[in-house]
Amino acid sequence: MLDARRRACLEAIGIELWSRRLTDGSAVGANGRAQPGSPAARHANPKLPPPAVDTAAPPDTGPSALDQVSQLGWDALRSAVADCHACVLHQTRTQTVFGVGDPDADLMIIGEAPGADEDRQGEPFVGRAGQLLNAMLGAIHLARADVYIANILKCRPPSNRDPKPAEAEACTPYLERQIALIEPKVILAVGRIAAQWLLQSDQPIGRLRGTVHSYGTASTPLVASYHPAYLLRSPLAKAKAWEDLVLVSRILNDPS
Ligand code: URA
Repeated sequence: MLDARRRACLEAIGIELWSRRLTDGSAVGANGRAQPGSPAARHANPKLPPPAVDTAAPPDTGPSALDQVSQLGWDALRSAVADCHACVLHQTRTQTVFGVGDPDADLMIIGEAPGADEDRQGEPFVGRAGQLLNAMLGAIHLARADVYIANILKCRPPSNRDPKPAEAEACTPYLERQIALIEPKVILAVGRIAAQWLLQSDQPIGRLRGTVHSYGTASTPLVASYHPAYLLRSPLAKAKAWEDLVLVSRILNDPS
């Protein structure tokens, strides 16, 4: 039986209870798409340095300084992001959008890039898409504060255009350091851009979703799903997004 809160959350994200179809879990364990040569895998090096020394952020945040990002602790990483000039997006941002949530979270959610609301407020997923994301989390009994939310890009692309590969490449060391510090049990990549970048794939999101992938050399389970902004425009896709959330929930609750 669904409890009242869960029922309310499901209704809030627009899932009609009578039409909801749960997966049987057969997709779980169908992973194994490690991306050994990808930029992501390169940066997600398991030979992480000994406990990070949380010294002051490096003043230089140009390309060469990005090599040192894999050694930073949280405070220095946050400062490095705030000072970053590694790509042109620093010219147009209001502020960087570092990420938010529990640094010990089991679930890390990764989106594409800050939009106008996020650029203004300095926090990911605070606009309408963020409200839907919060409701989706509620449907699997999680609050926003229970998870960690970040984006591929820390700066807003002008006019919300798609990130350019060079921008994603420049920003990836920051995200990979966040992932390495958090060591999530599962990553949920929302949207085509995030899923394709993290999996180094050109498959459409409709093919990447619905199964469990493996991210980086730590082989972190990664589930891809639709972006909440897309779900706002295409409510029929919510049933599939729910299936993806169930997959995430199963991994989170797997005792092994
Ligand atoms: N879309 C994203 O992908 N990330 C945000 O932070 C906001 C909207």
